[in-house]
Amino acid sequence: MDGQGQGREGHLRFGGWDTVELAERFGTPLYVLSEDAVRKRCRSVRETFINRHDGAFAAYAGKAFLTMAMCRIVQSEGLGLDLVSGGELFTAQQAGFPLDRTFLHGNAKTKDELTHALQAGVGRIVVDGRSELETLAELARGMGRRAAILLRIAPGVDAHTHRYIRTGHTGSKFGFSLIGDDLRDAVGFCMASESLDLRGMHFHIGSQIFESTAHVMAVDILVDLLTALARDTGFQAGEVNLGGGFGVDLLDEGRNPEIASFTDPMMDHLTAKCREAGLLRPRVTIEPGRWIVSDAGITLYRVQTVKRVGDLVTYVGVDGGMTDNPRPSLYGAKYRAAVANRMDQGATETVTVVGKCCESGDVLVEGLRTPPPERGDLIAVFSTGAYTFSMASNYNKIPRPAVVLVSGGRADVIAERQSYEDLLRGERIPGHLQ
Ligand code: LLP
Repeated sequence: MDGQGQGREGHLRFGGWDTVELAERFGTPLYVLSEDAVRKRCRSVRETFINRHDGAFAAYAGKAFLTMAMCRIVQSEGLGLDLVSGGELFTAQQAGFPLDRTFLHGNAKTKDELTHALQAGVGRIVVDGRSELETLAELARGMGRRAAILLRIAPGVDAHTHRYIRTGHTGSKFGFSLIGDDLRDAVGFCMASESLDLRGMHFHIGSQIFESTAHVMAVDILVDLLTALARDTGFQAGEVNLGGGFGVDLLDEGRNPEIASFTDPMMDHLTAKCREAGLLRPRVTIEPGRWIVSDAGITLYRVQTVKRVGDLVTYVGVDGGMTDNPRPSLYGAKYRAAVANRMDQGATETVTVVGKCCESGDVLVEGLRTPPPERGDLIAVFSTGAYTFSMASNYNKIPRPAVVLVSGGRADVIAERQSYEDLLRGERIPGHLQ
């Protein structure tokens, strides 16, 4: 992890900063993102994937964490962006991101979102099903545009991960199923359409996956499909997008895979199988989200209460919780944490760090070893860069924490802490209730 270690009086350092100082300056809870760590991961994607394979490209999956500042970092590292909603597209636009380097996903895109994408000049619209295809063809025709698209397929691969974040299995809500003739018919539809420019296929089989087997299986199925399509329809895919899903070890158990441990086997298999099938190997894009940003972030919380329930359990209650990180309660995700203001003191107790929400399931970290916990301690939860800020809610009318970007000597707020006024923005009391 970047710039992590012990500093003044046993304070945890992160991204070159004393975390206790960050908490005092910006308040808690606080998301802290290390710019250097994000850049390092982007560079690693470039060096070990993009530069190693002809025609390779990577789009950062914004759903993991997206702010305008993040768009600027990703842009300056030469990556594209995977966007999944009108709101994410708007964020990229406002940041001045080159939209020809973006992919728009979504299994239920609205007409407004499709129109927005066509107007904005999104690089590829990844079409998720037949009805979207027809809507898009009509919209593009009406606007006198030709939409560059990929068709998302559900390759029927069961990735080894939590069932909520599996997306490529048969029966998935995402993509064209490979059962029956739906996909072949869709390809025929695209080829006959003047407003659609079909470039290739896309899959994303799931998230937080640790071995390449499922991705390689999906590639295998994809090439079989492209072979059959070439034979039946004459369609030649110039490009494929193999999605993201590359896992990050939240517990630091030594299984933190490099991105090449996924992409090398996928590329080897793609190249070999295309050669065997007599197909030109299409250009390849990947869409890592978590792998780029997870370890680049930590969350800082202030301990508000310490509650010892006999010798059963000690609860350490903090000023955030499932509103800023829903992953433990939603997926049972386990995180590492530390008492950031007392890194030099030996652990004598095991505690459960709980959030402040009105839910018994609002448990952030179980089994944390600490020195005797005290009100006012600072808890740092590690590897929270991905799917925390982006999944935050205002449950219990709890404002969303600020995000601070740290780099060298700088610490800049890139997303302000919400105020109570922010929470009420847009609320109205109708006349008869005044
Ligand atoms: N591409 C597509 C089309 C996706 O749907 C996703 C994630 C990605 C790329 C990036 O996947 P990654 O590399 O980050 O695994 N909220 C869940 C994760 C949902 C992922 C949804 N799609 C979580 O907190 O684990």
